[in-house]
Amino acid sequence: MSLQLGDIAPNFNASTTVGDIDFHEYLGDSWGVLFSHPADFTPVCTTELGRTAKLKGEFSKRNVKVLAVSVDSLVKHHHWVEDINQTQQCEVDFPIIADENRVVANLYGMIHPNASETFTVRSLFVIGPDKKVKLTITYPASTGRNFNEVLRVIDSLQLTANYSVATPADWNEGEKVIVVPSITTEDALLKFPKGVDVIKPYLRYTPQPNL
Ligand code: BEZ
Repeated sequence: MSLQLGDIAPNFNASTTVGDIDFHEYLGDSWGVLFSHPADFTPVCTTELGRTAKLKGEFSKRNVKVLAVSVDSLVKHHHWVEDINQTQQCEVDFPIIADENRVVANLYGMIHPNASETFTVRSLFVIGPDKKVKLTITYPASTGRNFNEVLRVIDSLQLTANYSVATPADWNEGEKVIVVPSITTEDALLKFPKGVDVIKPYLRYTPQPNL
């Protein structure tokens, strides 16, 4: 069965472009993003890794460590990083895991045989400091991921982990949020001193509480 939300993200040891790692040790108390791409020296993947490198400041602001993985060798990864840096005007300094034996790909269900027997699809896992899986997304090889969306979801995950709120459709940092159904409006008014807007008994908004 594939990994599900709330499962412990499987640990592994791996060779990466920044040295050998124990995944859980590497994450430490940080959040993690582990994402696979089909293969080195491919165009969409080149743009994805470049974009990730350019978002370094955004990930570190959110206390997130990013790791990429594909079933290519470490030597290939190192050569490809030179191309990514050159073509995307960036500096890739996050680890790219060399998963030639598909250990990570199999642990995380990143090979979807009906899409490709050989290559990993574009899987992405957000992992919390408790090492539990908080988000999974899967894109086909032909579609590059939206990294603004990845950051947006991390903002929601981090906010909702700390407050009794959920985020509505298309929410972005700074916008009003939803009071979770499990708390009464009476309690919500105490918890959220900025106010609670009751549209329906089950649909209640409050300004983002951590701002
Ligand atoms: C790419 O990253 O560009 C790519 C990889 C596999 C299939 C199609 C596109």
